[in-house]
Amino acid sequence: MKYEDQIAKIKNIVSSPMRKFKPEELKGIIERYHKNHPKSKDAYYRARKIIPGGVEHNLAFNFPFPLESKKVYGCWMETIDDVKLLDYLMCGGPIILGHQYKPLIDKVTDVIKEIGPCHGITNEYEYLAAEQLQKHFPSCEIVRWLQSGTEADMLAIRIARTFTNRKWIIKIGGSYHGWSDQLVYDMHVPGTKMLESHGIPKPVLKFTESVPPNDIEALREMFKEKRKVAAVIVEPMGGESGANPVRPEFNKEVEELCHENGTLMISDEVVCAFRLHMGGGQAYFGYKPDISVFGKIVGHGFPSAAAVGGRADVMSLCAAGVSGGKRAYTGGTIAANPLTCAAAYHAIKFVEETNATQKAGHAANRLAIGLNEVFEKYELPWFSYNYGGTVHFHTSCVFGLDLNDNTQVGQIPLRKDFMGEMGAALVDQEIISVAGSRFYTCILHTDEIVDETIQKIDNICQKIE
Ligand SMILES: Cc1ncc(COP(=O)(O)O)c(C=O)c1O
Repeated sequence: MKYEDQIAKIKNIVSSPMRKFKPEELKGIIERYHKNHPKSKDAYYRARKIIPGGVEHNLAFNFPFPLESKKVYGCWMETIDDVKLLDYLMCGGPIILGHQYKPLIDKVTDVIKEIGPCHGITNEYEYLAAEQLQKHFPSCEIVRWLQSGTEADMLAIRIARTFTNRKWIIKIGGSYHGWSDQLVYDMHVPGTKMLESHGIPKPVLKFTESVPPNDIEALREMFKEKRKVAAVIVEPMGGESGANPVRPEFNKEVEELCHENGTLMISDEVVCAFRLHMGGGQAYFGYKPDISVFGKIVGHGFPSAAAVGGRADVMSLCAAGVSGGKRAYTGGTIAANPLTCAAAYHAIKFVEETNATQKAGHAANRLAIGLNEVFEKYELPWFSYNYGGTVHFHTSCVFGLDLNDNTQVGQIPLRKDFMGEMGAALVDQEIISVAGSRFYTCILHTDEIVDETIQKIDNICQKIE
């Protein structure tokens, strides 16, 4: 789907009254959720006593309560209630070979048996994995392994500030770059600025700014106002993994603008690497960042895999050790451990050998086309599109709200709630999604499985007013 059509459809959804479930259908969905998942419900009540909010992970926060796993394999999850769910959550993106991909599990298990999960001296997998990564990301001349995408983004901006001797970091409104103090700013819905979290003193965000998505002129203006920009950081597909779709030329324009101004471009490839393209957003959209950030598929779900890679002169600033000189201090007791690096090395190889990125992309294309046909059939304004193995389907379209429009500002909670209800409706059809608005595909989502999914979405659409 063309960018212009995506934007027109988003505008249409957010400026029209929200399409809701018929009240009796919604009641049925929620009643069945409670009835079909009694053990998960009990587990949730137990967890709530000891775990904040009863759930450890934002993605697991299903409405009306989270589901507890018993067995997970391939593209399936079985809950402790003995319900078998078709999995499009894929752990939020890291899984593309399917859960429990045996060749990978075997390789990593061998490493654990031989060397253990971590020991504190070096291991060959550190450079083997870095070489694998570099093979697909030639812009990464030097790679440093870390433990999460959040940490990697945090380091990327520190390196950029050290290298340029400048302070400002500009992000694109609505983008997610982990939850570090300086990047929890203007996430999810563009324009929300500091709304997402308390506990971050304003001065911490003094040198973080954002521009509206796809607005290269706004970015140009910002360069004029604040000439000391260390880095611009982008999510290549657009904010929140493409929920706010990117204008295809935008990344390249950012690269050019950065380089005209002596600013570094950071490409946050946490979701895109190996899911959108083997060479991530930079290969797909055709640009060359100075720094790239990795997570998710880079370790195929094994803890705790993330990395920062980039130009050698830039990356040399985060060399390990305690010597003096100009440096972006970097640490991590268990970072670059043999388990993580072996997982990364073999995961990247298996993804390449199995053609997983292309297969997941095929499933996602088919899914997005099928969903659009169903939405059209029921005359719903909803729509779907995919970037490789990431499928978005916009219904209430909370990400698209325009916070400069007074009539739309108050709609965030209502539209978010609908996504929760959509998530529950999907579980009712024995499908697990990302927040009722996204599907991640893997090599095991066959045409047959995808067609069944489309039929189930049809069942859901019949329940809409
Ligand atoms: C684009 C992007 N960057 C960074 C992160 C943070 O990664 P992690 O959850 O490993 O800290 C995420 C996580 O969803 C992400 O999508």
